[in-house]
Amino acid sequence: MKPDEYEDYAEVFDFFSRYMRPDHLPAFFEKVARLLPEGALLVDVGGGTGFYTRQLLDLRPDLRLTFVEPAPEMMAQARARLGDAPVFLEELFTQALPELGVQDVFLFCRSLYAFYGEHGAYQAMFDRLYHHVSPGGLLVIWEFNQRMDLRREFKYYGAQTVSQPDVFEQFLRKWPVLRKAMMAFNEKVEAGIYTLFGKGELDAILVEAGFSSVESDGNVYIYRKPSE
Ligand SMILES: C[S@@+](CC[C@H](N)C(=O)[O-])C[C@H]1O[C@@H](n2cnc3c(N)ncnc32)[C@H](O)[C@@H]1O
Repeated sequence: MKPDEYEDYAEVFDFFSRYMRPDHLPAFFEKVARLLPEGALLVDVGGGTGFYTRQLLDLRPDLRLTFVEPAPEMMAQARARLGDAPVFLEELFTQALPELGVQDVFLFCRSLYAFYGEHGAYQAMFDRLYHHVSPGGLLVIWEFNQRMDLRREFKYYGAQTVSQPDVFEQFLRKWPVLRKAMMAFNEKVEAGIYTLFGKGELDAILVEAGFSSVESDGNVYIYRKPSE
């Protein structure tokens, strides 16, 4: 999704984040929290409203965070949530890159798909990024790897909320915004504006850029820059 499309979506984003499948994001952030070295310099790329970033910082208050998010509506919520300590860059990632210097970890959580529509542009981006990662530093990526199934999502969130009538009523009110966002996502994938990655495609790009694959689990991928 491009940053200017987040006006309405930003308003419902946290509601749906709260009911996200527990086997997805929360486990992902617990894993990230265990993985990162003490005091690591971390960049959250396309961090959205900071909903999950807050949870990561609660687990790991020692992390030194730079938060990159180009959509003003998302960034406003992230600033309110994350306090004064992080560096906030309200820019597209490639615009922010020169300001980042060298960092220990880059986290891409459900954001990479929106950057470009073709692999060549990702290759150029990761080639540049390599020079901003410390020796032994990590890229941690959680990506969408399929189109949104609207019926499945409606059923899932409905089942999560139906036992609490006021929450279910909120879900029904907010659903059209999520539905529209998911339809726009699918259309942009079809149109070649967004990119869905599988492991083979991401591996090819990241290895070419100089990183090695540490592990992958479903659509979570971890890469490391070799230590010097
Ligand atoms: C689906 S949201 C994910 C937000 C958050 N990481 C999470 O998982 O809850 C995708 C985010 O990527 C951001 N984004 C899109 N294109 C971007 C780009 N070129 N550089 C940085 N962020 C971008 C969007 O503004 C949006 O906030």
